[in-house]
Amino acid sequence: MNILVTGGTGYIGSHTCVALLEAGYNIIVADNLCNSRVEAIDKIQQITNEDVTFYQIDVIEEKSVETLFSKHKLDGVIHFAGLKAVGESVKIPISYYYNNIVSTMVLAKACQKFGVKRFVFSSSATVYGDNTVPFVETMDLLPTTNPYGETKAMSEKILTDIAKANPEFSVALLRYFNPVGAHANGLIGEAPNGIPNNLMPYVTQVAKGKLDKLRVFGNDYPTTDGTGVRDYIHVLDLAEGHVAALDNLKEGAHIYNLGTGKGTSVLELVKAFEDANGIEVPYEIVDRRPGDVASCYADVSKAKKEFGWTAKRDIIAMCRDAWRFEKNLKSY
Ligand code: NAD
Ligand code: UD1
Repeated sequence: MNILVTGGTGYIGSHTCVALLEAGYNIIVADNLCNSRVEAIDKIQQITNEDVTFYQIDVIEEKSVETLFSKHKLDGVIHFAGLKAVGESVKIPISYYYNNIVSTMVLAKACQKFGVKRFVFSSSATVYGDNTVPFVETMDLLPTTNPYGETKAMSEKILTDIAKANPEFSVALLRYFNPVGAHANGLIGEAPNGIPNNLMPYVTQVAKGKLDKLRVFGNDYPTTDGTGVRDYIHVLDLAEGHVAALDNLKEGAHIYNLGTGKGTSVLELVKAFEDANGIEVPYEIVDRRPGDVASCYADVSKAKKEFGWTAKRDIIAMCRDAWRFEKNLKSY
């Protein structure tokens, strides 16, 4: 099967390319490289010993997308391409709405035109807003605090309506929890530009000495130790979740949580990182970060029941692999 992977040179996309190739899929990657590097293609080929066809295109451009669809007999699309920085989305909402919504529509339209019936979409646990944990797929969505989150909720709605009107269109809306870690060989991983917003890359940069200490955003949440609780999932488990989703697609649009089902607090993650890697991570407690929820973790029973998929790697493996990648980063 030929699968178009948009955003395939990015963090989650590159790991999923590896998992798809290892599962026997052929892949075609489309990415405009606005937040990734073309070297990721070499790394994917190096890890898998398979060839990857790459197009440097912007998937909001209908013409480029249609040209790609006309060159390859595609069987499905996994749509990772998108802008994802929450804070930035508040500052430049037009870019976020335009990029994330238009890309979804252009790709869905091309699927219709070229008879491509399988579509997997990268959504986010952020669409649950401040619901009660664990988050279940059947919950009503609560407003998110930022345009990024709204683009995910809107894209889900658009794809659901398209699938309703075209019952043969099979869509999986995958709500990721907190992807962290890297491929165990240290060749691909998360390399954010500038100062990281997310916890794990911040921790690895403190461990490396690039940043002096972690700032823990609040210790007065109603959680075990007062710090925010999240469902960290190893990016390779998440990648394998995409293969499982593709293998088990069914008609209509269906939502699946991809997480571990386990909550870990900020301080628990720091301790796990120190234990896994034998490195101290200095930190200080500061004020809460606006927009953060206290706890966010998944009910993972639906993906387990329908895909036969569960996350296998624990928090120690996540911390170890994230650190190995950070150490190798200069060669990336
Ligand atoms: P990433 O930035 O590493 O990857 C996204 C890729 O999309 C990048 O390579 C970027 O160059 C590309 N891209 C963006 N706009 C494009 C366009 N118009 N045309 C072509 N390419 C374009 O991000 P990621 O962490 O790998 O996230 C992948 C997807 O998963 C995103 O849609 C993101 O919103 C979603 N997601 C990520 C997380 C997370 O914590 N990383 C959580 C939930 C959901
Ligand atoms: C963030 C995004 C969310 C996105 C998710 C996965 C925000 C507000 N939300 O969520 O939309 O879906 O990533 O990509 O950015 N923390 C610190 N110090 C830090 C960084 C984080 O204490 O320097 C804490 C946070 O308060 C939180 C936890 O660590 O409790 C995880 O934070 P982060 O990695 O940014 O992920 P989310 O907040 O879950």
